[in-house]
Amino acid sequence: MKIAIGYDHVGYILKKDIIEYLENKNITVIDLGAPSTERTDYPIYANRVAKAINSKEADLGILICGTGIGISIAANKCQGIRAVVCSDPYSAKLSREHNNTNILAFGSRVVGSELAKMIVDQWLMAKFEGGRHQTRIDQIDAIQKGEFHE
Ligand code: RB5
Repeated sequence: MKIAIGYDHVGYILKKDIIEYLENKNITVIDLGAPSTERTDYPIYANRVAKAINSKEADLGILICGTGIGISIAANKCQGIRAVVCSDPYSAKLSREHNNTNILAFGSRVVGSELAKMIVDQWLMAKFEGGRHQTRIDQIDAIQKGEFHE
């Protein structure tokens, strides 16, 4: 399992704990920045992580900014990306079972390190259920392509 991680200057505060946590689970982490706590722009890192997933360099992605909102909005503009911003483990689990999310985002100003690890755990353990949920994902893809018909 390979996970690409990206974060802005605010997410930088939390990234070390999350990378360590993943590596202790023998997950390969591809660290795509930011380089420091110097102010930067979160879309850069959302785009890097999305590209790593789309090129199959990574299986999944994790994004961290202040709230998780901006960075997940940016990621969701990328083809093939289903990013969820979560501050609770239940939503993280359901986001994979029902929505087959391939990026998990959270906010370093919203969740602490221990809660973030629980969210990551639930997200990683959950499996996509397919079936009627795949139909809806196909509809989302059709919306993105401008080909959706009710
Ligand atoms: C940066 O100040 C902040 O806006 C960013 O980390 C994030 O919270 C945006 O959604």
